Amino acid sequence: MKLLNLEVSPNGESSSSLQVSRHLLEKFKGEIPGISITTRDLDAQPIPHLTGADIGAAFTPPEARTPEQQEVIKLSDQLVDELLAADVLLISSPIWNFGLPSVLKAWVDHIVRVGRTISFSSQGPKGLVPQKKVFVVVSSGGVFSQGPYAVHDHFVPSIRSILGCIGLTDVEVIRVEGTANSATTAGVVAAAKSKIDSLKLPRPH
Ligand SMILES: Cc1cc2nc3c(=O)[nH]c(=O)nc-3n(C[C@H](O)[C@H](O)[C@H](O)COP(=O)(O)O)c2cc1C
Repeated sequence: MKLLNLEVSPNGESSSSLQVSRHLLEKFKGEIPGISITTRDLDAQPIPHLTGADIGAAFTPPEARTPEQQEVIKLSDQLVDELLAADVLLISSPIWNFGLPSVLKAWVDHIVRVGRTISFSSQGPKGLVPQKKVFVVVSSGGVFSQGPYAVHDHFVPSIRSILGCIGLTDVEVIRVEGTANSATTAGVVAAAKSKIDSLKLPRPH
């Protein structure tokens, strides 16, 4: 089994999203011996934002690409290949300014590729990525699952929509919310870990 692990937080050991996602990784390692985990630390090695050259290469058919475009498309192809090869996708991230941190959005912009992960018709978008289990660990200073801030949650609806459009609809969201109150942060991290303990993991085919 192959797991692609995307890490976003720049907060290292003190990151609440990383503490929880790493707990999930430990569970995978314990229950699925031999699991292969590829980690992309988007903070340590950020993926560059899309350039005009990237877009030109992506929208040029492979056989018509110039040598420069063939070079430029390599990063996006590599990211798409990693996604397609994975049996499980794990994304851990904080909410920043009500939405996706831009390093995560940059990854999204490279992997949503017409003809590789998505197609469009008059019926709307069609996902080309074979179904796989996705876990999203999302940490936030405030509480978005309910209450007055719920309408401002542009992270979970956005990531669900993006993943759904490329074919990934089996998405388990694990919230670590309310970390702004330092008196309760340890409690919300522990609650998220305990939710993970009771999760049934996908099994290798
Ligand atoms: C630039 C920035 C923007 C943030 N924006 C929000 C926000 O819109 N809503 C919120 O509830 N928390 C916000 N936070 C707080 C983080 O979501 C919160 O501290 C989270 O637990 C961090 O996760 P981490 O410890 O895994 O990095 C923001 C933090 C930073 C640094």
